[in-house]
Amino acid sequence: MAFPAPACGARTVAPALPVFRSRYAPWWDDYSDLWDREPQFRRYQYLGDDWGPEDYVLHVIENYAAPYITPSSRVLEIGPGGGRYTNHLLSRCAELIGVDVSVKMVRRLLRRFQNQTNAQFLQGSGHDLRGIADRSIDFACAFNVFVQLEAEDVYGYFCELRRVLTDGGHAAIHYADFSNPEGWKYFLENRARWISEWGTRGRFCEFTNSTMAMLAERAGLTVVRNQYVGRDSILVVTSGKPEVLSGRPTGPTTRDFTQIERSLDALAADVYNEVPTEHHTAASHKTAETLLSGLQITEALELGCGSAPTLDWLKARGVKTLGVSLGSEPCVHSLIHADMHFSGLPTSSADLVIARHTLEHSPMPLLMLFEMARLSRRYALVVVPCDEQIWIDWPNHYSVLSKPMWRKLFTRARFRVAAELDGRLEPNSTEWCFLLEKES
Ligand SMILES: C[S@@+](CC[C@H](N)C(=O)[O-])C[C@H]1O[C@@H](n2cnc3c(N)ncnc32)[C@H](O)[C@@H]1O
Repeated sequence: MAFPAPACGARTVAPALPVFRSRYAPWWDDYSDLWDREPQFRRYQYLGDDWGPEDYVLHVIENYAAPYITPSSRVLEIGPGGGRYTNHLLSRCAELIGVDVSVKMVRRLLRRFQNQTNAQFLQGSGHDLRGIADRSIDFACAFNVFVQLEAEDVYGYFCELRRVLTDGGHAAIHYADFSNPEGWKYFLENRARWISEWGTRGRFCEFTNSTMAMLAERAGLTVVRNQYVGRDSILVVTSGKPEVLSGRPTGPTTRDFTQIERSLDALAADVYNEVPTEHHTAASHKTAETLLSGLQITEALELGCGSAPTLDWLKARGVKTLGVSLGSEPCVHSLIHADMHFSGLPTSSADLVIARHTLEHSPMPLLMLFEMARLSRRYALVVVPCDEQIWIDWPNHYSVLSKPMWRKLFTRARFRVAAELDGRLEPNSTEWCFLLEKES
């Protein structure tokens, strides 16, 4: 649909191809009418002013738009609505194009920005950017819009952003994120009501951090930031090569862990079976006698358990035991065949979680300690070799750290050292044994 261009001020541009009425349009046209009709909106000047505090809008503009705009930038806003973000974008750029599915929203925008000579608004299809020239946009954004779009439209927009962004141009896309703990909490809190009171959910399409990154990457964009913002997330993509972040990175770029999986697969060949020896058995029983006697333990879990001599000691005292292992040592306990970093077991699975001579084999010991804190209801037992050269030279030993370093990692994982022991594993080698207790 084309709009007559006013003699001065904000203009519209006619789309290059006829626009079919987007499935999202009726809802928003109706909302625009409702906004004019209902008295509760009278105290606001513009549609959208009723959607939360201006501080949040400014925070988003400062952090997710301003870094990518210069005074000579051409900016595209998808779904400007009542113009809440448009207002701030316009003052920072040379030219702005707003594309909205709702003709009624476009009319509002034309009225609001009628004196603005650097703004154009057009009605869009809801999934593409027809009418916008290739490589003509330095920065594109959508706030409170993709939270309601289906995957096919999200992907459609990503493909179009790849086309319309200049080389090295950026786009910031706000979306609803299930992988954001706040987003998940919101979902759980409202689920029952949405089920029982039909119609209370409204239009809402959640994605996850990695699905969103995947759709952008499949469209040929490069993810540069993908961050939780309140209950939702904002994805920043570029059409160019990944930029080197200057200054402090402010969060994860992507939640796609396939590279970690590839690295762990590469390291899997280094994992070897620990053949049970008298020394190991005696040392682990002595550690258990010294550090675990008298503790209230009904269930114990050992990560990377091998033949599990510590679990043997516990089982003999009536404790329910479970091991997690990738190896194939003889073991009499219930066993899960899994990577010790990712057991998949529920939170608070056991009173005691054991990592005996396994943390030194981990390429990411802090993450494993986080996992132990998650799995434990109260205690953890950590046994690691001391940092003598003999251990560093062993195969599959990636994290042979000093004692102060281990203590730092325990603290970071919110454990305190409740008791400790310097043990003798073999006649000439020392091991450090720590009984840890979770901080409340
Ligand atoms: C919740 S409002 C947000 C408006 C504005 N971005 C803000 O945060 O104040 C959503 C806007 O996006 C528009 N919209 C919905 N689906 C769209 C789509 N697929 N493409 C472009 N605009 C869309 C609606 O018409 C509406 O104006």
